[in-house]
Amino acid sequence: MNEKIDIHSLDDLSKAEVEELIEVSEKYRPLSKSDILKGKAIILLFLSPSLRTRVSMERAAQQLGADVVTLQSGASLWQFEVDEGIVMNGAAAEHMKEASRVLSRYGHLIAVRAFPNRESWEDDAQDKVHNGFMKWASVPVLNLESSLYHPCQSLADLITMKRALGSKKPGKVVMTWCNHPKALPVAVPTSFALAASQMGWDLTITHPEHYDLPAEIIERCQKHAAANNQKLTITSNREDAFADAQFVYAKSWGRLDCYGDTERELADRKARGLEKWIVDESIMASTDNAWFMHCLPVRRGVIVSDGVIDSPQSLVFEQAENRLHGQKALLLKQFQKLGND
Ligand code: CP
Repeated sequence: MNEKIDIHSLDDLSKAEVEELIEVSEKYRPLSKSDILKGKAIILLFLSPSLRTRVSMERAAQQLGADVVTLQSGASLWQFEVDEGIVMNGAAAEHMKEASRVLSRYGHLIAVRAFPNRESWEDDAQDKVHNGFMKWASVPVLNLESSLYHPCQSLADLITMKRALGSKKPGKVVMTWCNHPKALPVAVPTSFALAASQMGWDLTITHPEHYDLPAEIIERCQKHAAANNQKLTITSNREDAFADAQFVYAKSWGRLDCYGDTERELADRKARGLEKWIVDESIMASTDNAWFMHCLPVRRGVIVSDGVIDSPQSLVFEQAENRLHGQKALLLKQFQKLGND
């Protein structure tokens, strides 16, 4: 029997494997129904809310002929314990050790979304829910966004950029931090940075001082960039970053050194005037008529102006649609069905 393929971060796969997923997503793009995964059951476990991920995963599974069971946290699902060797006399009613093994008896793949608690970075950086499911489930596990990574989103982003570019020469890609009324997780920006550098894009990350992404992730990005003879630029000079950009990817994330103290972080943003970190027409004017990207959901008037997100250069709906096609490819990969259909 082949070893199970778990996907935590997209760069668990090689560059060639990611390129194959992008090709496969195009092959299955027109699909409305097939029976490639007939007889297979996919269990989606949403321990955090979602609009796109839930619907696009359900539709991806249905289009490939699989059955889908979705569990959503709330009144009908209790809290899971994630730590090992503890006395379970708190709120959690079931340990992940049991939950993951039980669900492995009912389905052939488990996909999990679990946002960070944002109380302790050291704790969230361990990505305990996703790592626990990968360790204990006997079936493949797919990450639908954990504390650290969102591989389904970054695959859709790569598909979107490739399609937008067509036969044009690839240029500068800018990922910009943006203001937001909350301190958000880092999963999307880490995953986009890893995916863009792994695929050899010329990536610039711009953020205000103190908004550094995790050092271990940046080191991995630098290694990917070097493997592609490419550079990774990180700057707090937004104007320089946007100059001549071909793609602008907007995303907010919280400070790692303010973890667990959102009030302090938000007060500091106000004091430093970080509201100006919005993608609007004036900053986009310095780009090379760049495409605008965001994973959604987005705060209009905070992250991006209406004029930019509603412009013909906005790719946000392409990104959202490509979630569906990318995830069909990811499911086929994990079921080891690529090239067998
Ligand atoms: N981009 C994304 O993952 O969207 P949802 O949070 O709605 O699933």
